[in-house]
Amino acid sequence: MNHSDKQKPIGVFDSGIGGLTVVKRLASTLPNESIIYFGDTARVPYGSKSNSTVIEYSIQNTKFLLQKNIKALVVACNTASSIAIPDLKKMFDIPIIGMIEPGAKMALKKSRSNKIGVIGTRATVGNLAYSKEIKKMNSSAYVYEKPCPLFVPLAEEGWIKHQATYEIAEEYLKELREYGIDTLVLGCTHYPILSEVIQEVIGNKITLIDSGVASSEVIKLELEKLSLLSDENKTGVQEYYVSDIPAKFKEVAELFLGRVIDHVHKVDLEVLISEH
Ligand code: DGL
Repeated sequence: MNHSDKQKPIGVFDSGIGGLTVVKRLASTLPNESIIYFGDTARVPYGSKSNSTVIEYSIQNTKFLLQKNIKALVVACNTASSIAIPDLKKMFDIPIIGMIEPGAKMALKKSRSNKIGVIGTRATVGNLAYSKEIKKMNSSAYVYEKPCPLFVPLAEEGWIKHQATYEIAEEYLKELREYGIDTLVLGCTHYPILSEVIQEVIGNKITLIDSGVASSEVIKLELEKLSLLSDENKTGVQEYYVSDIPAKFKEVAELFLGRVIDHVHKVDLEVLISEH
């Protein structure tokens, strides 16, 4: 990597809007970094797809972002992080950072009882991504995982504090309350969009772990270690690409980020698939 590599943007992808929870934290931890975001809104959700499909989509998304000349890749999707990272690392020679390890580490740091709950997509929970990672770090920890697939469309829809969101959260989270957990990992990047409802329903005594918060420090350290941190002294720019309905993405993104986004570009899915 040479000096100009530092000025290149960081590529971030998710199946949809969820990765913005990572972008939001990343932009405040590393304000001088530019970010190119890709949300695969045509193919969301990833959490109910097979491992091979998630790998295939992740490779296509990475190739798309590499064409934008990125210096590092953040897989801002727990599902893709838990399934596709080994393949991505084998195929692409850039730093690749996922969500699972930082989230697991932060959960163990915050928990006093070492009884940790994890909510995520069916794929992330089915692959026991967090259980494996947490137990690798501390074999005496207890981990209770629960899939909450309906949280993804609720977040995509922007139903941040809707009555339906409360009812679904109540249904999903009631069994986790019985386990006496003190920490709950939001093991899907869509879930922090609904964190107010999740916190209210699970109760204030339980600490929520947000992948965005957990990963942004790791991303900073990784870029620092590789001498890839931007040395610009102006605020970085953010560019957004989606594979379907940019207007809906823009609306929910602005609601969540609390600011106006200039433009959301549409990437033709046919092109994404055929060219990559
Ligand atoms: N936001 C993603 C995750 O962190 C994917 C959700 C989905 O597409 O099912 O798992």
